Amino acid sequence: MKAAIIYWSKGGNTEKVAWAIKEGLEASEVEVNFYRTEEAGDLDWFDYDLVCVGFPSYRWHPPEAVDSYLKNRMGEYRQQGRVKTGSPRVPGKNALVFCTYSGPHTGLNEAIPAGKYVGQFFDHLGFEVLDEWYVVGEFHGHMEHSTKGRLGDIRGRPSQEDLKEIKEKTIKLWQRIRDMGVSR
Ligand SMILES: Cc1cc2nc3c(=O)[nH]c(=O)nc-3n(C[C@H](O)[C@H](O)[C@H](O)COP(=O)(O)O)c2cc1C
Repeated sequence: MKAAIIYWSKGGNTEKVAWAIKEGLEASEVEVNFYRTEEAGDLDWFDYDLVCVGFPSYRWHPPEAVDSYLKNRMGEYRQQGRVKTGSPRVPGKNALVFCTYSGPHTGLNEAIPAGKYVGQFFDHLGFEVLDEWYVVGEFHGHMEHSTKGRLGDIRGRPSQEDLKEIKEKTIKLWQRIRDMGVSR
């Protein structure tokens, strides 16, 4: 069984979460390919049992680089006729979306639209979007947003505790994938 982790990170928060997911998958004895979006190029999502995509929320959207990456891949799949009306499920193809955010103004609502948007690329291709994980991350270079925002004092997040939780959630997620495989 194989998983890909594809992520974009400017300040390192999303990268930490990506590593924690990698640790969780490796603890489950899954082969993991790990890429920044810049390196992922024409990587074929259909080669994997699970594709994990991570990014920070920028004004409740994914950053431009992530959006371009996803649109390019989607354009290719559309040309190949893989975006079908009704988006029938492709058995054994799963996705996980993870989004870090600081929520200085409206909290979690600043991340959910970005996560839902990215999930749609996979949903349209017939992947099962197993979950969206929204992880709090310090707003680097903007102290007020890290101390006085809707989420309070978020300096140092994601913390070791947050990352431990991510690793544990990943182990459970993989168990779910394995169970689905057994029942098919
Ligand atoms: C240009 C920019 C725009 C941002 N916009 C938002 C936003 O609208 N909502 C939010 O919750 N966080 C916002 N953030 C905070 C980041 O989403 C958050 O700190 C994230 O964890 C950074 O991830 P990274 O360290 O992997 O780059 C923004 C950060 C930057 C640099």
